[in-house]
Amino acid sequence: MSWRSHPHAPKSGERLCRVEAIPNGNGLEVLRGEGGGALRILLTHSDGGVRAYVNECPHFSLPLNSTPGEFLLTNDGHIMCAYHCALFRLHDGFCVEGPAKDRSLQAIPVTVVDGEVRVAANG
Ligand code: FES
Repeated sequence: MSWRSHPHAPKSGERLCRVEAIPNGNGLEVLRGEGGGALRILLTHSDGGVRAYVNECPHFSLPLNSTPGEFLLTNDGHIMCAYHCALFRLHDGFCVEGPAKDRSLQAIPVTVVDGEVRVAANG
């Protein structure tokens, strides 16, 4: 299912967080909705800018993190799924290694306006 079809999908222009809320070398998870039906959004901030993805690995549809608030970012611009080690490029969410190879995280287009991360207008 596309994130746009999710019942709690953020609307274009909706604020997700402030840029400085995204920790260096880690990700930030922002929820829309509650409990098991929530849309889990992963935000990262690196040299390539701010990126947002649905926090769901395409391998087994599990979140990329096994511990709340702890994401496995590498120094060379990747994020590793905590369950079976699929490795995704941070800049486009493409899986380059592991059991989700050649699949991608679902990107949520975002823009930064006055230090706030918002869903892009075309999102
Ligand atoms: S659930 Fe992510 S690699 Fe298996």
